Amino acid sequence: MTDYKLMIRQTEALAEDSPFPIPLMANVSALLFESLEDVNWAGFYLVRGGELILGPFQGKIACVRIAKGKGVCGTAWAQDRPQLVPDVHKFPGHIACDSASNSEVVIPMHRDGEVFAVLDIDSPSLARFSEDDLKGLESLAEAMERIFARQ
Ligand code: SME
Repeated sequence: MTDYKLMIRQTEALAEDSPFPIPLMANVSALLFESLEDVNWAGFYLVRGGELILGPFQGKIACVRIAKGKGVCGTAWAQDRPQLVPDVHKFPGHIACDSASNSEVVIPMHRDGEVFAVLDIDSPSLARFSEDDLKGLESLAEAMERIFARQ
């Protein structure tokens, strides 16, 4: 089981050096990519001008723009609800950036009550992410929200 509490402490330590959103997201995507087993993409999409734009990530080249309500990320944003997708091929409108991806988890992140980014993690394995992973990643996203709210 992944130690999400440790990752939250590491994220808070990283934020002491750089509380700015882009450097922290860049380091957290590296931390996630290193710490989580069996993942092929970990990163952030940012809400900009009414769509999602690719943010800091680790993994293969990814699509730059995602419309609200499109794919797993756009759905998480539009519904303001985390998405735990055991088989992306069964998710209507899934956007296949890396054909190796088979399961995915996406978590909306908030500032001033609005979604300003989503955290997206993909795996080549089906049903890679459990409810416990979802809870751990939600706690990590909340820790980042608190850090950004301090600025
Ligand atoms: N799978 C996402 C697109 C982003 S890539 O996975 C990095 C989606 O359907 O929203």
